[in-house]
This record gives sequence, structure tokens and C-alpha cells, in this order.
Amino acid sequence: MIDALQPLINYIYIVASVLFIVGLKMLSRASTARRGNMVSGVGMLLAILATCLLKGMSFAWILVGAIAGTTIGVVASSMVKMTAMPEMVGILNGLGGLASLLVAWAEFHKWHAMQWASYHQTLGAGAPNSPLVTAVAMAFTAVVGAMTFSGSMLAFLKLSERITGKPIQFRGQQFVNGLVILLILAAAVVFCQNPAGGTTPYLAFGLLMLAGLVLGITSVMPIGGADMPVVISLLNSYSGIAAAAAGFIILNNVLIVAGALVGASGIILTKIMCKAMNRSLGNVLFSGFGSGSSAGDGAGVTGEANPISADDAYYVLEAARSVVFVPGYGMAVAQAQHVVRELGQALEANGADVQYCIHPVAGRMPGHMNVLLAEANVPYEQLVEPGDVNPVMAAVDVAIVIGANDVVNPAAKEDAKSPLYGMPIIEVDQARTCIVLKRSLKPGFAGVENALFFKSNTRMLFGDAKATVLQLVAAFKDR
Ligand code: TAP
Repeated sequence: MIDALQPLINYIYIVASVLFIVGLKMLSRASTARRGNMVSGVGMLLAILATCLLKGMSFAWILVGAIAGTTIGVVASSMVKMTAMPEMVGILNGLGGLASLLVAWAEFHKWHAMQWASYHQTLGAGAPNSPLVTAVAMAFTAVVGAMTFSGSMLAFLKLSERITGKPIQFRGQQFVNGLVILLILAAAVVFCQNPAGGTTPYLAFGLLMLAGLVLGITSVMPIGGADMPVVISLLNSYSGIAAAAAGFIILNNVLIVAGALVGASGIILTKIMCKAMNRSLGNVLFSGFGSGSSAGDGAGVTGEANPISADDAYYVLEAARSVVFVPGYGMAVAQAQHVVRELGQALEANGADVQYCIHPVAGRMPGHMNVLLAEANVPYEQLVEPGDVNPVMAAVDVAIVIGANDVVNPAAKEDAKSPLYGMPIIEVDQARTCIVLKRSLKPGFAGVENALFFKSNTRMLFGDAKATVLQLVAAFKDR
């Protein structure tokens, strides 16, 4: 390193780290999220520029990487649909894990060719005196990076429905996982004893990578599609942990800080989602939720649904003094958020009190509905949480469900055998009238039949959510 520049680099790293933290904080509110993203981006740019001041940089390769990465990033993020965002995050997590794995591999390769004393010098001032610390960081990065990569790719394939989203389970799965973990421990001990010289460390490092890849696959395989967003968030956390560990190998402070922030925020998000579904992380990871077994999937739920036409639904809404919109994944699919806002405005102009109740796991990613409604400029003060609306739901004239299903399924309260049991829901069945907009009576993502559709105060308004809401808006305009 150029010693004279080291203090400057560290100062820039501190500024970058502060920007990451401020940006993350701003991401927690819809009104500041865009600026927060920008602030963190500036932090990352500073971190990259400061890293370029380090000695021994190969600028030609950095340029090739920066151009290729920026091009792919800009094209991919401008093309991706909002509903495919979790898949995209899955790929990005996986690539983060792979990048950390490659750092560990490259550093191991360098160390292998020389003795510790010479390798130690390449790490620069402040490098740990004990080779064990660096060797452990390498082994850890290799395993977590490989696991993040393979697990994220499998999660991507499941989410994008390129392979079945159902849990894939086999007998002795936990035993196989246990064996793989034992193999990892044995290979790590061999590797850490002497990473330099001979073929043994190569074999041990290869085994660590391979076992990490296998563990990533076997741990994501048994998880059902409905739980995939939780897994994506957990893998996001792993990718941060792998990056922080890679930072300990090459002694890069900003990599350690950024990795730790990603690791911690991923875990916090995972916890928030589990709490919103009233399930433990262990239950998400090991229960095989959504396996399609008939127990508790509401197979016995039958009845006669009461369909309603858009014209008749207009008369119900026209008479309503209080209306609560409940958006779900179907609103995202139909891209109905703008017309929903228009309908909300028409109802307000008609004298109704209008609110939008968002369930924390509605849609397919955290904050999915908040983002869509913010995009349609729904005022923040009209957004409410289930805990605010449920206690007064009986006094609501109309609850209008726009493509939501699992998050309004009464089985979560009423059927102890249901996989949804215990999940807090939006109790639209308690409203005076509930109008459900969806295309059919099919179950939601969890595959659980919904008794709401057959309740006496529920009216089914079948069709694509956007087309249906457009008809309602037109009816308000015409009359
Ligand atoms: P879902 O239960 O997935 O139901 C969405 C409904 O939208 C479907 O039943 C579908 O019915 C309807 N739909 C699809 N396209 C439509 C269109 N164009 N127009 C009208 N309706 C349409 O959605 P939800 O209630 O939002 O629940 C989310 C699920 O994801 C929950 O199971 C939740 O646990 C899970 N999950 C979410 C997260 C996060 S962070 N959001 C995390 C973990 C798990 P039709 O096919 O009949 O139209």
C-alpha cells in the first residue's frame, strides 16, 4: 500500500460507512427510501474510488469489471418487472457470495505459493501475526460464500418457477446435512493447519467449497415457495457475512463494515417477516410449508360463492361511508395501483372515508404494497396497519380486497390445522360487506383454500383487478 495515502483512504472509508448507515436508515420509510438508496450508492462510489488508491491495483481489469458490471446492472434493473424483484435480489445475493468465495480462493492461491512470512507482508500493516486467523477467515469465507451462491441460485430457480416451488424433501435429509457439516469441519481443520505448499491444502479448500455448495442446495431444497422471500432475506444476510469475512482476509475496513451491515440488516428483515407470519425461523427452514399435503390446506372448504357485477359493486360502493382497500399480490400482477388510487379518490369525492390497509407480507417481498401505493401517490396518512383496522373492522362499510388472498384467509384464525394458523390477517370478513377482486376461486401462494369467498357478506368480483377497478372508476365518472 502507499503508506502516505492510507490515512486518507481510511477517512474516505469512514465517510462511506456513515453514508451506508444513513442510507439504510432512510430506506426504512417510503418517503425517504429513494434518497436513501442514492445516499448509499454515493457511499459505495466513494468506497470504490478510495480502494483504487491502494497499491497494486490493475486499472485495466478494474475498468473492464466496472464497465461490464455497470452495463449488466443498468440493463437488468431497468428490464426487471416489480413482481420479479425477489428473483433479481436472489441472483444478486448469489453473485455477492460468489465474489467473496473468489476473493478467498485468490488469496489462498497467493498464500499457497509462498511461506506465511512472505504472504503476511503482502497483507500490509496491521495484518494478524497468527496465520491461523487468516486461514480461518479463508475457510469460513469459502464455505459461506459457496453456500450463499448455490442456495441463492436455487431460490432464484424456485421463485421464477423454472423448477417446482414446492418443498423437495427426502428421507435422511437432516442426516445428510449433518454429514456435510462434519466434512466441512474436518476439511477446515486440515486446511487451517497449513494452507501453504503441497496438494493437501488444495484438496481441503476444494472440499470446503464443494461442501458449501452442497449445503446451500440441501438447505434451500426443503423450503416451499411461499417462504422463499424469507430465505432470500436470510441468504442476503449470508452474503453480507461472507463479504465481511472476505474483508478480514484482505484487511479491508469498508468491506468489513458493508458486509456487517448487510449481514445484520438481512437478519433483522428475516426476523420481521417471521414475526409478521407468526412463525419461527426454524419453522420456515424445516417445516416444508406448502408441501401440498392435504392436511390443513382447507381441502374441506366448500360453499357457494356470491358473484357480483361491476355495476352492482358500484352501487354498494356508492352507498359506503367507510371503505378499506386491502391490496395483495394480485394488485402487483395486474399493475392496478394507479387505478386503485383513482377509485379511492372517487370514493372520497363521494364522501367516503378511505384507508389502505397493508399486511406486512402481502405481495412477494417486504414493503411490496407500500412501494406500489407510493408509486401511485397514495397519501401516507391513508396507509394503515392490520392492528389499526381490525379492532374497528365491524364498523367498516366495505372492505375491498384487490388480489389479496392468504393475508385475508380466516383459516389463519379458525383452523388450527391450517399452515396459515396463527398468522395475523386483515379481518375483512368482519366488515359489513367484503368485495373480493380476483380472477377465480383459486387459493393463494400458500395453496390454502379460502373460506372468505363463501361467507354470506362476501361478494366475488371476478376478473383482472385493473380491468375491474377501471370499470368501477368509469361508473363513478358516468353517474
Ligand atoms: P396471495 O395469497 O399470493 O394471492 C394473490 C391472489 O392474487 C391470487 O389468489 C390470485 O387469484 C390473485 N391474482 C393474481 N393475478 C391477479 C390479477 N391480474 N387480477 C386479480 N387478481 C389476481 O397474495 P397475498 O394475499 O398478497 O399473500 C402473500 C403470500 O406470500 C402469503 O402467503 C405470504 O406469507 C407469502 N410471503 C410473502 C412475503 C412478503 S415479504 N411479501 C414473505 C414471505 C411469504 P386468481 O388467480 O384467482 O386471480
